[in-house]
Amino acid sequence: MRHRLKAFFQSVQHHVPLTAAIGLNLILILCAFALKADGDMRSSALLSVAGNFHILALHLPAALLLIVPLLEFWEKHEVATVSIRRLSLICAGGTWIAALLGVFHAHFNGYSGDAVQLHLWGGVAASVFASAAWLALDQSRIKRLATQALAVGVMSFAAHIGGELVHEEGFPFRPNKIAANHAGKPGAKATYKNTGNTYADIIAPILEARCVSCHGAKKVKGKLRMDSLEALKKGGGSDDPVYTPGDLKKSGMFTRINLDPKDDDFMPPKDEKPLTKSQVKSIGLWIEGKTIPDDVAKAAFEEAQGGK
Ligand code: HEC
Repeated sequence: MRHRLKAFFQSVQHHVPLTAAIGLNLILILCAFALKADGDMRSSALLSVAGNFHILALHLPAALLLIVPLLEFWEKHEVATVSIRRLSLICAGGTWIAALLGVFHAHFNGYSGDAVQLHLWGGVAASVFASAAWLALDQSRIKRLATQALAVGVMSFAAHIGGELVHEEGFPFRPNKIAANHAGKPGAKATYKNTGNTYADIIAPILEARCVSCHGAKKVKGKLRMDSLEALKKGGGSDDPVYTPGDLKKSGMFTRINLDPKDDDFMPPKDEKPLTKSQVKSIGLWIEGKTIPDDVAKAAFEEAQGGK
């Protein structure tokens, strides 16, 4: 009996790593399904702050994920060393934590959109692969390296989408606008042309430069997209209309850019530069259906070009 019990515990002990890795990653997947990234902000100060820490927490496992195969490659041990095992364990645990905090970040801090979904599930996959790389440590060096390379690939993909979310599309390969201009690449400064279509000529370029990074296909803050006229008419998550032709008061996009910049509802939010006077004026005149004087339109357009 005692022998049997001992054998049982030994076999359980033997399977602890596998069980823990599968169990924890299943919890992560369940959380990702249950805690939706639907653009709503939720009031849990603790989980909201925990979510913010996603941005901090992800750097340690990302670095370890590269260091482990580098050491393996360098040291050429047929059997994984203790340091490799420890670093790999910290990496798998760290990736899991970073991914879970990411799920909180999206759910509690109001993220949604295709890129957010892609980044979120990429992060979940990165955790699964980082765990796999840890579980594969008893395998031959080549098999270990192959699993680690796979994990690096998945993580790089998730990290790239994440980078684009924080910065802009094409990050980090696209130089800043001025540099792109010099190189004659797309993104070069456009010149203002009055074709008679006020929305396309002036308004869309302003919104594109100053609002669409948060209100576009990739990130949809406040459940509002501002990348087409239809989307503006449709409005956002609240019942307040965003754009009502002829009625400034029923146009949230106008009231919000005219608030006191310290107001919580001011758009674009606090850490961004407010719209310029000509841009605010152009948007107002456009909503009222009035003609925008050419010099105001030209200034508003050109100021949008610098990303201002
Ligand atoms: C840095 C991200 C960011 C930028 C840039 C941004 N917004 Fe927002 N916007 C938000 C967030 C977050 C919300 C949801 C919270 C709220 O309602 O204040 C929101 C909500 C809104 C809403 C309310 C939608 C609804 O129905 O609840 C309007 C209108 C709006 N923004 C207009 C604008 C305009 C106009 C611009 C460009 C001048 C802009 N936003 C730029 C983040 C941003």
